Order: sequence, then C-alpha cells, then structure tokens
Amino acid sequence: MNLEEFKQKLSNIFSTFKKDKEVLSVDELKIKYLGRKSEFVSMLRLIGTLPISERKEAGKIANEFKNKIEKLLEKLESENNQPKNYNLDVTLPGKKVPVGHMHITTQTIREVADIFKKLGFYQVRYPEVEWDYYAFTALNFPEDHPARDEWETFFIDSKPINSKYGARILTPHTSSGQVREMEKRKPPIRMINISRVYRRQMSVRHLMNFYQFEGLVIDKNINIGHLKGILDFFVKKFIGPDTKYRIRPYHFPFTEPSFEVDVWLGKENKMAKDGWLEIGGAGMVHPNVLRAGGIDPNEYSGYAFGWGIERNKLSIGGINLEDIRILYQTDIRFLEQF
Ligand code: PHE
Repeated sequence: MNLEEFKQKLSNIFSTFKKDKEVLSVDELKIKYLGRKSEFVSMLRLIGTLPISERKEAGKIANEFKNKIEKLLEKLESENNQPKNYNLDVTLPGKKVPVGHMHITTQTIREVADIFKKLGFYQVRYPEVEWDYYAFTALNFPEDHPARDEWETFFIDSKPINSKYGARILTPHTSSGQVREMEKRKPPIRMINISRVYRRQMSVRHLMNFYQFEGLVIDKNINIGHLKGILDFFVKKFIGPDTKYRIRPYHFPFTEPSFEVDVWLGKENKMAKDGWLEIGGAGMVHPNVLRAGGIDPNEYSGYAFGWGIERNKLSIGGINLEDIRILYQTDIRFLEQF
C-alpha cells in the first residue's frame, strides 16, 4: 500500500459512514468507525508498512479523518436529544403549578384595613416589645391596679428599668399605640393600628399571640355619635348589611364612657354566648389619656375601639373550630380551605 491508496481507502470509509449515519445509532457508529476492531484502527497499524517518507503524511491524514468523524458523532448526539418529528399539540392540558394564597389572618387584616381606609383612616403599626408606660400607665391604669392583671402580660424585665417607662413587656393590646400616636401627630388623628398582641393565655379559644386592630380618632367636637356611626358602618360592611349588634356599658381605664360591642350571630353559633358574640371594646378617650399624649382635653375629644382579628373572623364566618390554635400550626390541609 502507498499513500495514495491509503488516502483512497479512508475516503471510502468516510462515504460508508455518511450512509450509515442515517440508519445506525451514535453508539453503533462509534464502535464501527472508531472502535478497536474498526477498519480505521487496522489502517493505523498499516502506517508502519508505508515507506518512511510517507508515514508522517499518512499519520496526519488519519488524524484528520478521526477528528472529522468525532465532530459528526458529537453533532449527531446533540441532535438525538431532540425528538426528530417534534409536533406541538396545543390542545394538551397545561401543567398546573400549585399556587398558594394568603393566610386567613392576613386576608382579614387587609379586609379590615380596606374598610377603614375608605373612611379616611391611615394604617400604623407600633412596637410589639413595648414599655409598660404605653400599655398601661399612659392609659390611665393606676400603679398596681388589679386591672393590669386582666391583660395577662408577658414581662421582658422583671422590674422597672426606666423611671418613666418602667419595664419592657410584650404588648397585650393595640391600645399601646394610642399615646404613641398622639406623641407623633397633632390632631386630627384617624389611625388604625393593626398589630400582634400577646397574652399569657392558651386554650382552645385563646391564642398567646393574636392580632388586634385599634381605631383612634381625635379631633374637635368628637362625640359618641361619631363612634356609633363608625361601628355601624364597620359591622355592616365586615359582617353583613342586616347585622344586629348592641353597644353595652363596660369599663376600661382608658375610655370614659366605655362599651363592649356584641353582634347577634344566633343561638346556634357555638362561639357566641346566648347568640351574642362580644367582638371588642370601645369608648370615648379618657381625658387623662389625652393629657398623657400632650393633647388638651378641653379643646379635643376622641373615641377608640379595639377588636380581635382571628376569633371574630372565624365566629362570624360560622366556622366552628374545635381548637383555634390550628390557625397557626401551618397545616396546609386546614389553611387551603380559606
Ligand atoms: N384594649 C382593649 C382590649 O384589648 C380594647 C379597647 C380598645 C377598649 C380601645 C376600648 C378602647 O380589650
């Protein structure tokens, strides 16, 4: 064999390769054309039989042949990853990706905020780790008054650490935002404070950590009629236009007069007592609280109300839960129902 014949032979092999690549798989082609028993490998052994002067050239040609085949095999391989006859069937149903939604508490918070924003309230949020001062003292709770126990407070400090502000606590009600708001803004005030509150309680009807929303309106000539008007609007919007409710005298140190508001849910509702559900407190801001906020009670008056989010929403929605704590156990089977 001489160089010419050598070249010819390789080009013949290449021609059969071109035909084979239409019918054989990439793996079969690899074995047949570059494998240990391939014609190409036996040709390599022949190089040694060529005249010495032609061996270098023959080696080069053989290398080129090998590179060419390898490139084509690579190309075939990448093409093979795609189906040859790719048809798009637009009638096939699409893949459904599971989509989450907001927690029922978040939904309710937004619902409440929207109702009050329509009435001209602005939304604020105050610290959850709060001074005793804002949660109690500034709200006209006498020092060591047993009323402080009613709020079942968590204490961060075991004794007062500041002569004015006292100890740090986890705020037990959103009313702690009242004097903070008065310190920040001059009347007219129309805030809605929606925040987490904490109480040392835990049962099927109580969460240690729940949400409240607190309304505070302070302006000239604010009277009980305004408070009733707002409550009426809210109750009818949040629960339903035909909702029956009542405003019942009560006591809070920070409002005078004070009320509790009950809505009629009917005798069948388990959360309600004799058909009435107490949804929260309200009242006219006590003059001492206005003073604590640097507002002159002879010039201004105001009203406040504070209601819980979770239990009210569930009772009103007619959801008779056996244990309210399931709300925060992140059980998707429960949560996805709302
Ligand atoms: N802070 C009171 C509570 O948590 C509710 C309330 C708010 C009462 C505002 C009157 C005025 O029970």
